Amino acid sequence: MHAEPPMKPWVDLDKVYDASTLARRVSQLGREITADFSAAPLTLIGVLKGSFVFYSDLARAIDRPMRNDFIELSSYGAERETSGAVRMTKALGASIEGEHVVVVEDVVDTGLSVRYLLDHFAGYRPKSLSICTLLDKPSRRRVEVPLDYVGFTIPDIFVVGYGLDHAERYRNLPFLGVYRETD
Ligand code: IMP
Ligand code: MG
Repeated sequence: MHAEPPMKPWVDLDKVYDASTLARRVSQLGREITADFSAAPLTLIGVLKGSFVFYSDLARAIDRPMRNDFIELSSYGAERETSGAVRMTKALGASIEGEHVVVVEDVVDTGLSVRYLLDHFAGYRPKSLSICTLLDKPSRRRVEVPLDYVGFTIPDIFVVGYGLDHAERYRNLPFLGVYRETD
């Protein structure tokens, strides 16, 4: 029988950013995006599932009318290392032609997911296309991608919480913590 790995107690995860640090940074990003799109209709596209917590906080920190849509990508499965092949498992609900689009990501690691999204969305002819990511791990980049808004730049550590998972767990942690396999 397949045994589930025991879930670590939340208190055992080293905090990287606590809830109030995250909230402060997200509201700054919201103010920046509000200012940058002051006269433009905006579509905020969340990349599921990792961005769902960040997305909901960021959307409420942007003081502009907007459309909300989501796309789902899959590349990791239950593993920590990307297979390199990005797959779309849920498409957008509506056209983005002529729209100013801000794509909301949880973390940019190898860059392969953002590369895929930029290529995919460009085909739908948005008026502009920007990337907003909560976290950036530049040391693991395999393809260069332009990032317009970055919450925090972090070293090569595997983090969970605030939407990010390890094997579909820990997404509902209210803070960001380091996940260590050997703990
Ligand atoms: P990419 O390698 O830039 O394509 O990153 C793709 C995805 O890998 C991210 O959107 C996350 O879902 C996942 N990922 C990368 N690093 C982490 C991490 O530290 N914790 C949880 N998920 C991660
Ligand atoms: Mg992601």
